[in-house]
Amino acid sequence: GDKGPFVNEPPWDWTIAEVRRTFERTLAKLPKDFPVQVPLVINGKKVRTRETFSSTNPNRTDQVVGVVASAGEEEALQAVAAAKDAFDAWRDTPPRERAEYLFRAAQAARNRRYELAALQVYEVGKSWKEADADVCEAIDFLEYYGREMIRLGTPRRMGHVPGEVSHLFYEPRGVTAVVAPWNFPFAISVGMTSAALVTGNTVVYKPASQSPVIGYWVYRIFEEAKLPKGVLNFLPGPGGKIGDLLVTHPDVAMIAFTGSKEIGLRIIERAARTPSDAQFVKNVVAEMGGKNAIIIDADADLDEAVVQVLHSAFGYQGQKCSACSRLIVLEENYDKLLERLRAAAESLELGPVENPKNVMGAVIDARAREKILEYIEIGKREGKVLVERPVEGKNGHFVPLAIFTEIRPEHRLAQEEIFGPVLSVLKVRDFDEALEVANSTQYALTGAVFSRSPENIEKARRRFRVGNLYINRGSTGAIVERHPFGGFKMSGVGSKAGGPDYLLQFMVPRNVAENT
Ligand code: SER
Repeated sequence: GDKGPFVNEPPWDWTIAEVRRTFERTLAKLPKDFPVQVPLVINGKKVRTRETFSSTNPNRTDQVVGVVASAGEEEALQAVAAAKDAFDAWRDTPPRERAEYLFRAAQAARNRRYELAALQVYEVGKSWKEADADVCEAIDFLEYYGREMIRLGTPRRMGHVPGEVSHLFYEPRGVTAVVAPWNFPFAISVGMTSAALVTGNTVVYKPASQSPVIGYWVYRIFEEAKLPKGVLNFLPGPGGKIGDLLVTHPDVAMIAFTGSKEIGLRIIERAARTPSDAQFVKNVVAEMGGKNAIIIDADADLDEAVVQVLHSAFGYQGQKCSACSRLIVLEENYDKLLERLRAAAESLELGPVENPKNVMGAVIDARAREKILEYIEIGKREGKVLVERPVEGKNGHFVPLAIFTEIRPEHRLAQEEIFGPVLSVLKVRDFDEALEVANSTQYALTGAVFSRSPENIEKARRRFRVGNLYINRGSTGAIVERHPFGGFKMSGVGSKAGGPDYLLQFMVPRNVAENT
């Protein structure tokens, strides 16, 4: 049927007791099925492998959430072959019909909102609210990209020369490898996968090794939507081996990646080596890191700013590419702001996120923990500790919440992405210097400014060069369609997710002109 205009899926209202109780019940129920047995899915067939790996709860590492089949070279080749075989028929399926699969998958996700969110509390350590937001964002991507494809699927009449009918239209590229991150384990996977599918590409989807159980749900909502077999293949496995194989495979035309700068650059480099008998030049969309700053102007509303800074820096333990990791403060406000920031940071509840009072729990895995702890040591050498609060809990990948002052723009803490709950404060003389410092990294993803000065806000609009700038609002939590999301410089290549140009990257334009 005809679809109404796009609207964002509203998050749960946690003030409603029934919502809280249902979430609690779901949390209590899920572990009865742990460990979930996760197969590969190739050409619609569930495949078990001799080798498996497990996915564990970051807050409680003795809890095994899933035991997961692990693809080897053979399975990866089969998955690409299945996607290739399914391509012609899927390409020729009308855009509106392809969009309907997305709308049905959205409904499948909506029917399971509690379960899909609660699973994230266990598998990746999201707080209740952050987990729910991730599921809502996934539904938004499905509803939005479905409508976008209906818009783009109508051939466009070009020119107005008598005696000629000329049309521009789009068609898919081919087999697409989707290489997904764990930090928005449902939303970003669903976003990249649905964009590839709705544009007519067939997909081999590799979930992150830290979130394969949620990854399996990405497959299952499309299974429930009755997607034809082979159109979406599910391929958990070791990133290095399987990732490289997919990226360099001669039949893979497109790679959609979200993750670290290191892996993103590796993919770009490998995908660019084109053998002489190749049928196409691979296209890569890569969302990479950030070193995002929030500027606090001399006249900023500090009550508002402090709350938003803490949320942007420490929400989901700082493990968002959009997280605030640099706070740039004008000296006029410096002492006052720091005092409030410290007091507010001291008052946050920390601990395992199964308990909804805790806003910050464990980080994703042991490697992340080690890396973050190293940066905290570097911070102690480069600057001064303002806040260092350990997180109480047994058996989890816990790191302290840390805020450093006296960090200078050239310090490692001001330049390198940490991907953890570490915030660096930099003092500047005036707003011009603030902008200069804000722009002084390799990255250009998100940023925010708290100011009441129309002149400075205007300056920031023009000169704070990031993909997503927020004025008098925190730096995280982009909403599909309202805030098309993505950066440039070393933050990535390709156009913004959840925006009107995103789908174009998954297609090639064709033009047919008829002399009449
Ligand atoms: N889209 C997320 C945010 O804005 C980051 O991936 O926080």
